[in-house]
Amino acid sequence: MFLPAQAPLELLQLDWLTAANVEVAILRLDQIDPLISGNKWFKLVEHLKAADRTGAEGIISLGGAHSNHLHALAAAGKRLGFKTAGLLRGHPQQTPTVADLQAYGMHLHWLGYGGYRARHDPGFWEPWQARYPTLHAVPEGGGGLAGALGCAAIKAQADAQLSHLGWNDYHGWWLACGTGTTLAGLALAEAGAHPVYGALAVPEDHGVAAQVESILQESGRRRADYELIDASRGGFAKVDSALLAFIAQTELDSGVPLEPLYTGKALLALKQQVEAGKFASGTRLVFVHTGGLQGRRGFPHNLPLS
Ligand SMILES: Cc1ncc(COP(=O)(O)O)c(C=O)c1O
Repeated sequence: MFLPAQAPLELLQLDWLTAANVEVAILRLDQIDPLISGNKWFKLVEHLKAADRTGAEGIISLGGAHSNHLHALAAAGKRLGFKTAGLLRGHPQQTPTVADLQAYGMHLHWLGYGGYRARHDPGFWEPWQARYPTLHAVPEGGGGLAGALGCAAIKAQADAQLSHLGWNDYHGWWLACGTGTTLAGLALAEAGAHPVYGALAVPEDHGVAAQVESILQESGRRRADYELIDASRGGFAKVDSALLAFIAQTELDSGVPLEPLYTGKALLALKQQVEAGKFASGTRLVFVHTGGLQGRRGFPHNLPLS
């Protein structure tokens, strides 16, 4: 089984943090692997074990034409030698992500928009399971309890390095949320010891709160301390010039590359909350860099890749 490298944990040097005397260490999951990076491997690992247990030959899953999840899944399939199939939102289009999925040997099917919206309907998977009887189905974004359980290892990655920063503890986590799976995994791993703040990359009506609650309930854990904060800036994948300027400035000041859909919005939302006084002087937070940098290539605003 592929084992991701240890993600560096680095102190972020940014003037708005210094001004508020808030320390933020960034866990660079974007650096664990050139292709299977960010939170993706953690969300996939328990699904892969489940596929193995049932004797499946591979994985079928869903996503959009820029999906970081499908990209990591296809790369893992090629590297580890298992079959992959991807069900895509919308109509056929060529993006750098789609070109990679094809190059990694993923079988692609475009569902249109209505077809993709039906993904939570009972019976959605039946025709696909008939077509790919040897593939194990994984929900959108590698979600569900299995996805969350794999994310517990993210906490271990940070814990192992706190002493390098001279920290003996921290006050909470801050990360981008798409489905809420990674946040749920960290909340489970923390069992209430530290709060997990989720910066929502999607609008509130996407049901993240309900998905997080359902994972926590299914796990049987009672104690979990988390909070969801709107960071979507008007919609998923909606980008504005203030966001792009913030990403460019942050990269100049800290050397950390961000992308506009998840990590850029999450850090900008943190800045706003820090400036609004949400965190007392002396607070220490771990910000998770959830990766996704491959998605920058296909982005219309085309941020340069460093
Ligand atoms: C780069 C990036 N960050 C964060 C997320 C959100 O993770 P989750 O779906 O576990 O909330 C995703 C995917 O959904 C992502 O691609």
